[in-house]
This record gives sequence, structure tokens and C-alpha cells, in this order.
Amino acid sequence: MTNQWNRIIYAFWAPIYDRMVAMAPFGAARRRTIEALKLKPGQKVLLIGVGTGADLPLVPEGVEIAGIDLSDAMLSRARRTAGQLGKVANLRQGDARSLPFADRQFDAVILTLILSVVPEPRRCLAEALRVLRPGGHVAVFDKFLPAGKRRPSCLRRILNILTRVFGTDINRSFEEIAGGQKYEVLSDEPTPFSSSYRIILLCVPKASECPA
Ligand SMILES: C[S@@+](CC[C@H](N)C(=O)[O-])C[C@H]1O[C@@H](n2cnc3c(N)ncnc32)[C@H](O)[C@@H]1O
Repeated sequence: MTNQWNRIIYAFWAPIYDRMVAMAPFGAARRRTIEALKLKPGQKVLLIGVGTGADLPLVPEGVEIAGIDLSDAMLSRARRTAGQLGKVANLRQGDARSLPFADRQFDAVILTLILSVVPEPRRCLAEALRVLRPGGHVAVFDKFLPAGKRRPSCLRRILNILTRVFGTDINRSFEEIAGGQKYEVLSDEPTPFSSSYRIILLCVPKASECPA
């Protein structure tokens, strides 16, 4: 995956993305992912790879929202979604591998369907952890290789040639992406519709403990 290709392919997907997502069984999983953060009014959340803003309706009122995305086409839809919802959101163009935010600014980060898309997903997660205050949470909803499996099957490798062209990689290992980074896993569960799709809640350690 490269940023160059992602810009092209997500400009192509932008006009139909919301309809495609609506057809996928993602609704309940998205809700669960964001509910896991237990966001409260006054807190600050960052959506990395905000896309068309499919997560925005699920962010509780009064939470300060920031979002970045590489694709202007996706972002302009996210701005429209925020406007329709009457939500104020600081949505800007940027690269998930090098976030335009200072350290420890956010209470929570949402990573829905981005770690399987962004080039260098390890850098993306490291950036998410960097901008979180100690004790802050990252909620991930994405597809990965089965936990503990580092090598994809032949079939997955063949399928991945196609899915990468369409803008997503089905053969990434969360354990490889996250290995060696400073976080604690609070929960990691497969979704009911596919065990490849997981909802993972992480916490940046505060001294030595993470509030559940
Ligand atoms: C599959 S969409 C997910 C969008 C949204 N999070 C959702 O759940 O519907 C992936 C998004 O990642 C964005 N993206 C790809 N590469 C990126 C990068 N390097 N930095 C930021 N966003 C990127 C794409 O433009 C696209 O909007």
C-alpha cells in the first residue's frame, strides 16, 4: 500500500463509500468499538483516517472531535457529515504516519479500518500512542490475520493481490503491528460476523496502571 495509490483509490471510493459501508455488517461493531472508549463530554478524541465520517454519529455530544485523512475526497464528505450532524469537528488533511499534533493531546484515538490501509501501520499506531495522554485509550476496529498467525494462507495471499488494489490489505498481523510498542490490551474480541475483524481496546500506561 502507498499513499499515492491510497489517494487515487479513495478518491474513486469516496462517492460510493457510505453506501458500501452501509451494506457491510459493520454497524454494531463500529458502535461497540466507540462505546468501549466510554467517551465523556469535554474529552478530546482523534479519528485517524476519518474517511467519510462514518464514526462521527457515534461520538457522544460534547466530545471535542479532531480527524485526519489523506484523501481530500473522503475528507470533504466527512465535513459534510459533521455539518449534517451539527457537530463541530476539526477535520484536516494529513498522514497517519506523521500526525500534525503535539504529544499527549487526546483522551482517545479511534482507528477504524485504517491499520489495514495505511502504509507502515506500525508508525500509524506509534503516532496514535504518542498523541494520547497517559491513561488514554485507542479503539481499533479492523481485519487482521488470526491472532498469533504471522503467515497468511495461499488463498489469503492470492485474494490480497486484489484487495490491495481496492485499497485494503487483509494479511496484516496486529501482533506484528503492535509488537514492542508501549500499551496494554484491555480487550480484544472477534466480531460476530467474522473472526478476522476484531475490536481491540488499548491503553497507554499511566505510571503502571490503565483504568478500565
Ligand atoms: C477504509 S477507509 C476507513 C475510513 C473510516 N475510518 C471508516 O471506518 O469508515 C480508510 C481511510 O484511510 C485513509 N488513508 C489512507 N492512507 C492514509 C494515510 N497515510 N494517512 C491518513 N489516512 C489515510 C483513506 O483515505 C480512507 O479514508
